Amino acid sequence: MALMFLNETVRAYRERDPAARSNLEVILCYPGLHAVGIHAISSFFWRRRLFTLGRFISHIGRFLTGIEIHPGARLGRRLIIDHGLGVVIGETAELGDDVYLYHQVTLGGTSTEPGKRHPTVGDNVIIGAGAKVLGNITIGEGARIGANAVVVASVPACTTVVGIPARPVERDGATRFDAYGQPDPCLDPLLHEVELLRGELTDLENRIAKAARERIF
Ligand SMILES: CC(C)(COP(=O)(O)OP(=O)(O)OC[C@H]1O[C@@H](n2cnc3c(N)ncnc32)[C@H](O)[C@@H]1OP(=O)(O)O)[C@@H](O)C(=O)NCCC(=O)NCCS
Repeated sequence: MALMFLNETVRAYRERDPAARSNLEVILCYPGLHAVGIHAISSFFWRRRLFTLGRFISHIGRFLTGIEIHPGARLGRRLIIDHGLGVVIGETAELGDDVYLYHQVTLGGTSTEPGKRHPTVGDNVIIGAGAKVLGNITIGEGARIGANAVVVASVPACTTVVGIPARPVERDGATRFDAYGQPDPCLDPLLHEVELLRGELTDLENRIAKAARERIF
């Protein structure tokens, strides 16, 4: 099982990063791959309620790779963390499959309340270098987050956002940024609508939860 995950992730690096020349090079020289492997171990212990051991293994991973992934975070398959240094993935973050993160990305919380407080990132999302994605928001499938953007609201599927706070890039259907040959899942307009609704639903849920906490009702 572990070998299968390793194999498919190494293949993903080879397919998407032209700098990766061999499987051995990916296995030896890609901190993103090491960080995900260490997270598999730390989360194994975390889910068995050995919290301190889980955190300690995650801390060793951070020391070795410069990438901090909380053992409670849920990662999808074939996650690529390119370059990696300075990446932070919070406790309740959830990532889909084939997500691509560059260095200095933060998937962080904005609240000290217990419970879900970090982002949910859909399949095939690309998050550019230095971007901060904050709070219990949803990044829809196939969305692109620009380098150094600060994202504080849900992003619909197949949408590119840039800036602070992040806003959708207006475009006329021309080409979109691709992380080195990442397949584009954004050809289905129905999926786009569903993801749009899902993002709005998450935002509404957050607003209701916040209002309940502040006893507005
Ligand atoms: C945001 C991004 C995904 C958009 O790529 P794209 O779909 O090809 O879009 P374009 O390059 O056509 O840019 C669209 C518009 O957004 C602007 N833009 C692009 N990236 C931006 C960013 N990070 N911040 C602010 N504005 C940005 C462009 O200037 C352009 O504006 P204009 O229409 O007024 O001219 C891409 O620019 C990006 O930031 N990718 C991350 C890459 C990265 O982190 N690489 C690290 C390698 S080590």
